[in-house]
Amino acid sequence: MTAIAVVGSQWGDEGKGKITDFLSKDAAMAVRSNGGNNAGHTIEIGDKTFKMRLIPSGIFAAKNGAVIGNGVVINPEVMFGELDNLEKEGIDISGLKISNRAHVIMPYHILQDTYQEEAKGDKKIGTTKNGIGPCYMDKASRIGIRVCDLLERDTFEEKLRTSLAEKNALFTKVYGKPELKFEDIFEKYLEYGQKMKKYVTDTSVVVNNALDNDEKVLFEGAQGVMLDIDEGTYPYVTSSNTISGGIASGIGMGANRLDTVIGVCKAYTTRVGEGPFPTELLDEVGDRIRETAHEYGTVTGRPRRVGWFDSVALRHAKRVAGINALSLNLLDVFSGFDKIKICTAYELDGEKIDYYPASLKELYRCKPVYEELPAWEEDITNVKTWEDLPENAKKFLNRVSELVGVPLVTVSVGPDREQTIVLKNPWEM
Ligand code: IMP
Repeated sequence: MTAIAVVGSQWGDEGKGKITDFLSKDAAMAVRSNGGNNAGHTIEIGDKTFKMRLIPSGIFAAKNGAVIGNGVVINPEVMFGELDNLEKEGIDISGLKISNRAHVIMPYHILQDTYQEEAKGDKKIGTTKNGIGPCYMDKASRIGIRVCDLLERDTFEEKLRTSLAEKNALFTKVYGKPELKFEDIFEKYLEYGQKMKKYVTDTSVVVNNALDNDEKVLFEGAQGVMLDIDEGTYPYVTSSNTISGGIASGIGMGANRLDTVIGVCKAYTTRVGEGPFPTELLDEVGDRIRETAHEYGTVTGRPRRVGWFDSVALRHAKRVAGINALSLNLLDVFSGFDKIKICTAYELDGEKIDYYPASLKELYRCKPVYEELPAWEEDITNVKTWEDLPENAKKFLNRVSELVGVPLVTVSVGPDREQTIVLKNPWEM
C-alpha cells in the first residue's frame, strides 16, 4: 500500500496520533488536508513532549517531510510557534511544504468565531474559537485570503481592505463591537508571508508526484467523521470535510488514489462541544470512564462528554468515509468494569432503526439499543499480543469489528508507543 489515510471515526480525539506515529516511520511523506489549529495532539519522543496543532505529526519521522494541503486553514502565528519550538528541539523542518492555495486565518476570523458563539447563547456550537468556521465561510464566499495572496503586496492590500470593510461593518453594526484597523494587520501578515515563502509551493504536485513514484504517503485526518460538515451532526460540526473524500479536495488529487482508510475509534465514545450524542452517559459510569481515561481537552481542559461505543455511528462513518481498517484505542479503560455496553441500533418512536438520522429532532428522540458484554478484571496495559488478551476483551473486540463490518488492524492498551497490539501492518495489507 502506498496511500493510507487515517481518519477519526467518531467526534474527534480518538487518539489518531498513535497509529499515525506507527505508520509515519515507514512513510515518505505525511500530509494534512483539512481543519486547522482546532486539532491538537501530544507527541512524546524520548523525554520530550510536543504539542502539535497544525503541523502534521509525521514531520518527526516521514523521510521527505510534511505537507500542509490547500484544504487546511492556517493561523500563521500558531504555525510559526510550532515550527520555532520544533527547531529549538533540533527537529529538521526543512522538508515542510505549505500549499499556496491554503486559506489564512486572520485576526477577524477569531473574533467573528467568538462573537457568533456569544450571539447564539444556549444554541452555541461550542467551537474551539480559533476562527476555523469564519475562515472557511470566507473561502466559500470567495473573499478569503490565501497563502499566495500574502506573497503579493498589492493583492493582499486590496483583499484585506475589502474583507476588513465587510468585517468591520458586521462587528460594529451586528455585534456592537469595535472595528479592526488595517494597519494593525497588514504589515504583520505580509511578514508572515515572507517567513513562509521558502515552504510555499503547489503541494498537489508534490503529493501526486510522490504517489506516482510509489512512495508511501500518509494522510493525517483531523477531527472525526461525525464532525464532518456534510455527514456529521450538522450544525454541531466543524467547517470542513473530515471524511476521506475531503482528502482529495484538500490536497488536489483524484478520489481514486487512496488505498486504505483507517478509521480510528475508542472503545467507547467521546465528544466535546454541543450537539446530539445518543449513547452519552450522564451517570457515574460516564464519570468513571472520564476519570480513568483522563478525558479532558488537551488544550482547553474541557471535560469531554462520554458514552458507550455506538456502532450505528461507526457504520455511518464506515460508509461515508470508506473505512476499510479499524484502529481501536483505550481498551485498557474497561479493566475492572463489570460489563460493557455496545449500541447496536437506535429506537426511534418505537421503531428499531439502523441509520444515523439527519434530523436533529429525530436524533434527540433516538434511544440506543444496547447489547451487554462482560468486561474483565485483568490489567491489560502490558499485553503485547492478541493471544494474551483476556477472553472477554477478545470477545468485545470481535463484536465491535463484526458490528462495524471492518477488520481491526491495531488495538491500543495504553498511551505509550509500545502499548499497541498490531494485528496487521496497514502498509502490508
Ligand atoms: P470548530 O472546529 O472550532 O469550529 O468547532 C466545531 C466543533 O468541532 C466543536 O464542537 C468542537 O469542539 C469540535 N472540534 C473541532 N476540532 C476538534 C478536535 O480536534 N477534536 C474534537 N472536537 C473538535
